[in-house]
Amino acid sequence: MVASEAATTPDRLSDQGALFERARDEARHLLDLSRKGARVLVVTHIDADGLSSGSIAFSALARKGVAVSVRAIPDLDLKAIERLRADKFDFYLFTDLGSGLLGELSKAFGERFAVLDHHQVPEADLRHPRLINAWNFGYDGGVEACSSTMAYAFAMALDDWENADLSQLAIVGALGDRQDKGEGRMLTGLNKVALDDAVSRGLVSATNDLLFFGRETRPVHEAVAMSYTPFIQGLSGAKDAALAALTTSGLRLKEGGRWRTLGELSNEEKQKVVEVVSGFIASAGHGADVLKDLLGTVYTFVFEDPLTPLRDAREFSSVLNACGRMDRADLGVSICIGDRESALSSALSLMAEYRSKLNKALQRLQQEEDKVATQGNVMVVMGEEFIEERMTGSVSSLLASSDRFRDKLVLVRARSGESDLKFSSRIGDSFPGKVNLGEVMRAAAESVGGVGGGHSMAAGAKVPFARRDEFTRLVVERVAAG
Ligand code: C5P
Repeated sequence: MVASEAATTPDRLSDQGALFERARDEARHLLDLSRKGARVLVVTHIDADGLSSGSIAFSALARKGVAVSVRAIPDLDLKAIERLRADKFDFYLFTDLGSGLLGELSKAFGERFAVLDHHQVPEADLRHPRLINAWNFGYDGGVEACSSTMAYAFAMALDDWENADLSQLAIVGALGDRQDKGEGRMLTGLNKVALDDAVSRGLVSATNDLLFFGRETRPVHEAVAMSYTPFIQGLSGAKDAALAALTTSGLRLKEGGRWRTLGELSNEEKQKVVEVVSGFIASAGHGADVLKDLLGTVYTFVFEDPLTPLRDAREFSSVLNACGRMDRADLGVSICIGDRESALSSALSLMAEYRSKLNKALQRLQQEEDKVATQGNVMVVMGEEFIEERMTGSVSSLLASSDRFRDKLVLVRARSGESDLKFSSRIGDSFPGKVNLGEVMRAAAESVGGVGGGHSMAAGAKVPFARRDEFTRLVVERVAAG
């Protein structure tokens, strides 16, 4: 990592040097412990940024000969901390979770832990000595730095020659958390620093193009139908409808009996694809916003097989996300640390299953309107009968990117164990007004005896089932208050 102008933002000055210094201290500390025989456990979250950040930390430590293992968990709560403690590792390195439970972690582990994270926490918590959080170094952890770029900084502090390849996973994590919010869907801040490293080492190319999935690997109609963000009613998940619409438009979809890919189309032909897609985007006033989401910077990993989804950084993150959400985080980690054989083929089948699950949940929502309740700007999806706990984040992300919900705050709920409900909330890109969702969810959950937190645009909570309505009311009130 080298100092970069892109790491500064107009209203805050990020301090990459200070971050690097802090990361170096932690790296030295861990290497010292390892020399004394310490066993380290990396604990991470199951989403794409979680799996990539955990894998970066794991790989960097393993390359230095540290006795390290990695474990991905859906949520960190008191029960999870107790289970981790019982496993008696000598040091616990948390990535993508832990910032909200520093007191509990200190109680359980004393000084034998560190947290690499980007979730926003109250000012007082930011000063905790075991926390290395993007917000502490002037980065907006919602858009300029993810856990994977934080883990990458740590990896570079351990060895900036050997670990430079991990910049690719840092990009995967940033895209997984949808942090490509710069001009033309560029990465900014610390994420851009990792991107620049990857580009300068010839690992990734960044070009402007249509953002459909499978651009280079799938027939055009499949690529269009497989794109879920933005979610396009009538096309996303509907291969036959996409084929019919594109054929009617006169686009030449085959060449010599072989399906053409989006990558092979001329600019004019790509324009035609955009026209067809626009026809499906309802004229609810957000069409232009949805269309904007279809174009932007494409990040290609030049050493990955062009026939796999790992070639495209956004698709790579979707593969990881599917692994985590389908309870096979182990496959995601294996892929991150280099398995391109059995883990990859299992992950690809899993991805098909994951998409079909998502489709079923979305169909159910369309058919049963009573499952969605509107309260002001908030849409509450009551998914306890048909959405699994691990899928709430995916469903809420999809809905928030769809034309119907993109000016809403989406709150999806599902059962969690016997007595709790899991809530996932997302703010649609066209939401009017300003809300810090992470703060709203944290405060509302704590008021009803639950836990919550996250980012300004995406957050989650777990609350007692019996107090679900009170929780929702608090969220709606806080959102209305701005
Ligand atoms: O679980 P879900 O995908 O809805 O979470 C959205 C974001 O909120 C994630 O980044 C997650 O780590 C964060 N979160 C949190 N504290 C919670 C629940 C979720 O920081 N209790």
